[in-house]
Amino acid sequence: MNYEEAYGKLEKYGQLHVLKYYEELPEEKREALLGQIAELDFEVLKYCKENTTNEKGKIAPLAAMQMPEIEKHKEEYTAAGIEEIRKGRIGAVLLAGGMGTRLGSECPKGMFDIGMTKPVYIFQRIIENMLDVVRQAGAWVHLFVMTSDKNHDTTVKFFEEKGYFGYSKDYVSFFVQDVVPASDYDGKVYMEEKWKISTSPNGNGGWFSSMSKCGLLDIVREGDIEWLNVFAVDNVLQRIADPCFIGATLVNGCVAGAKVVRKNSPDERVGALCLEDGRPSIVEYYELTNEMKEAKNADGSPAYDFGVILNYIFKTQELEDVMDRQLPLHVVEKQIPYMDEEGNHIEPEAPNGYKYETLVLDMIHQVDNCLAYEVDRNREFAPIKNAAGIDSVETARELCRMNGIEL
Ligand code: UTP
Repeated sequence: MNYEEAYGKLEKYGQLHVLKYYEELPEEKREALLGQIAELDFEVLKYCKENTTNEKGKIAPLAAMQMPEIEKHKEEYTAAGIEEIRKGRIGAVLLAGGMGTRLGSECPKGMFDIGMTKPVYIFQRIIENMLDVVRQAGAWVHLFVMTSDKNHDTTVKFFEEKGYFGYSKDYVSFFVQDVVPASDYDGKVYMEEKWKISTSPNGNGGWFSSMSKCGLLDIVREGDIEWLNVFAVDNVLQRIADPCFIGATLVNGCVAGAKVVRKNSPDERVGALCLEDGRPSIVEYYELTNEMKEAKNADGSPAYDFGVILNYIFKTQELEDVMDRQLPLHVVEKQIPYMDEEGNHIEPEAPNGYKYETLVLDMIHQVDNCLAYEVDRNREFAPIKNAAGIDSVETARELCRMNGIEL
């Protein structure tokens, strides 16, 4: 993109301040800035005043397949899942592009050491859990790791240094998720440097399109990977490419599945899997009305009792079909480092603007059906979101201990 084209694009979006220092920049920095202007999607900025996510359709409960029912069919489901893994039809996608702000660690979250007597890294727990399945099936599951521009090099280096924790390097591919500009409250992008616009990762909903952009769908297509199990970095107990979950989704003719746990209270901060206008959907904990919290099933149990834990399986073909549809955009307040008028670098201590994200949970509403598959929260749900308190290193350590994992 040349200067005139960049000028035109910025003018269209009211962002001409980006070129304020252009004249004084050396040639290579000018090129870098023009390249960034060409790449970035400024369309998102128009949502700074109106979040696109507020309007929900008609919400109704979606029954979950509960543990006793799963237990009855365990052998059949597991065998079906194992067969898919052996045929190489299952891939796993680790979402590790987040900032991990709440945990407050400098490193990528997966590098966090939860060990007490020896190092046990979050990435290591994930790989160890995957290796259980690899041994059970006698076949590798291709692991795609989504990083962000901010943590990519550190993440890849860490895996290299640790010998992929025993996983086959041939079955691990890294890709960087897209970024979007970060702005002040009026939708004006911040500058990080005179030649660089402030950006932030575009949210975990960008995983499939980022995979596509990075050319990784070729591995999926050529390898005949029919299902992708997408999961968060921070749950150190989760089962990945779980044969029983895969089998249950498949045998029941679903195109997607979501692992869910019974909520520990109506106010627990997890999204509830439900139906929205007859299609699967997730209502976030803050969207649950009192009426929904009190609603009961015919047997008297709470109607919105199952929360998602960010472990989903999707049929790849379905995702390809819906890839071009725009997911709702979530506008999130955030602390955005920036360069002030005098050229000083500022690390704000309070939120000073917005980042623009799409979320994987919104992908559920794009598919025709989704199996809500209950797992035992004490065995499969140990998220590390915070440094202390709820969903923290302490709570995850305690759950690991209960499950006989040495830390
Ligand atoms: P969270 O919503 O917990 O966000 O991400 P986070 O960035 O890790 O942590 P906070 O909110 O800053 O404290 C849920 C999952 O989605 C991934 C995270 O890495 C985590 O696995 N994620 C999130 C991405 O891969 N990219 C993103 O842009 C955001």
